[in-house]
Amino acid sequence: MNSRLVPQSKDPIQRKPAQPIHVTFDGQELAGEQGQTVAGVLMANGIVSWRTTTVNSRPRGLFCGIGVCFDCIVQVNDQRDVRACQRRCKDGDVIVPQHDELPVVKSND
Ligand code: FES
Repeated sequence: MNSRLVPQSKDPIQRKPAQPIHVTFDGQELAGEQGQTVAGVLMANGIVSWRTTTVNSRPRGLFCGIGVCFDCIVQVNDQRDVRACQRRCKDGDVIVPQHDELPVVKSND
């Protein structure tokens, strides 16, 4: 213990014990804690990349971590374009990677 760490018994915040949750990612069951973001649960389970870019299939996961870059998007319970760094997980969430194809531009010829 260092000089800055307050013992739990004297901590005025009195943090409650973590509530376990279970979610699935791409069919794999993952354990997390209530309050964790989707990205937090994925990374705590060793998953650091959960989608690929549309153009060159480059791996992407958490980049900015503050909801700005959209690198972390996933589908949660069939809802598309969810930023994994911004959404808190709920018990039973079904998370799948989101892959988008390039849009096809039709010519008027
Ligand atoms: S990591 Fe940038 S928006 Fe989620």
